[in-house]
Amino acid sequence: MRGIYPGTFDPITNGHLDIIKRATRIVDSLVVAVGHNTEKVRTFGLDARLDMVRSSVTDCPNVEVVSFSTLLVEAAREYQADVIIRGLRAISDYEHEVQMAIMNRTLDPDIDTIIMVSSKEYSFISSSMIKEIASFGGDISPFVPESVLKYFDQLI
Ligand code: COA
Repeated sequence: MRGIYPGTFDPITNGHLDIIKRATRIVDSLVVAVGHNTEKVRTFGLDARLDMVRSSVTDCPNVEVVSFSTLLVEAAREYQADVIIRGLRAISDYEHEVQMAIMNRTLDPDIDTIIMVSSKEYSFISSSMIKEIASFGGDISPFVPESVLKYFDQLI
């Protein structure tokens, strides 16, 4: 079984990485698909977000990192994924994730969604919170892969 794990990854966090590592124990191969949510303003450009994800998964076997700018279900078909992987951090994510899963299955009944519950140590992390902490000079090293830290030097 092949999975696709989509996100904006602005930036990738240890929470995303936890889902990627756990997902690779379920699926045979995983495509991490860097896209964007049209309702959000991005901080990092596509190339930086791709580089950050790629540098974070170097020790993850059977993980491929791609970008997409289509509907998620179209990207899933393009990369021959059988299943969409999403993380659920808290009850506040629930409505959005269920809505996405139902919408995607309506668009393509052949592609189902597996929603994985975040590990408790990562259930409070979000990309925007990390960016806010960094903008005040706070230490973000507990929240992002080490290879991601240098991208913040360019921001400040
Ligand atoms: N650990 C830590 N943080 C996590 C997380 C985890 N396991 N899972 C999600 N998050 C955070 C992210 O950091 C992000 O935080 P932010 O809001 O502070 O930036 C937030 O949760 C959710 O972002 P993300 O995972 O990137 O997903 P999204 O809900 O913004 O969706 C796409 C992004 C690209 C998957 C979605 O917009 C998409 O599918 N677009 C394609 C167009 C399409 O098909 N639309 C119809 C979909 S129904």
